[in-house]
Amino acid sequence: MKAFVAFLVLAIAALQCEAKVYNKCEFAKTLLQAGFPKDQIGTWSCIAEHESHYNTKAINHSSGDYGILQISKLYWCNEGNTPGKGCGITCNSLLGDDIFGDLTCVKKVFEETKKFKANGFEAWTTYGSCRGDQSRYVAGCF
Ligand SMILES: *[C@@H]1O[C@H](CO)[C@@H](O)[C@H](O)[C@H]1NC(C)=O
Repeated sequence: MKAFVAFLVLAIAALQCEAKVYNKCEFAKTLLQAGFPKDQIGTWSCIAEHESHYNTKAINHSSGDYGILQISKLYWCNEGNTPGKGCGITCNSLLGDDIFGDLTCVKKVFEETKKFKANGFEAWTTYGSCRGDQSRYVAGCF
């Protein structure tokens, strides 16, 4: 019994370390649920593919970007345990399976970026690869 409990504890710990990788339609449906305009979701999906390959645990240690949409520690999230910066969150909170927190922050980054650039997507450098019609990213999803 003790060994079984130990096994369960290890199994659960292992599961928590495992990254969740969204597939295209799962990602698209989650954005729709979070209230993103339908005609922008293909572009977001293209950005997520280029930024993280849809991996919620993605971290770029050289730039300090976190999560499926690679949100920057420079402006938007706080490293360490105290929530803070533009989105009022910890960077580690961007690495979970549930991406609704990421998406709330993404909306903020998008809106803030629109104030000084014509297009909120410009906050993501990979947007350069995602201009124009990206509807193939959501084909068959809705
Ligand atoms: C990490 O960020 C740097 C600087 O923005 C970028 O050049 C590099 O391609 C990124 N690495 C990955 C794996 O995305």
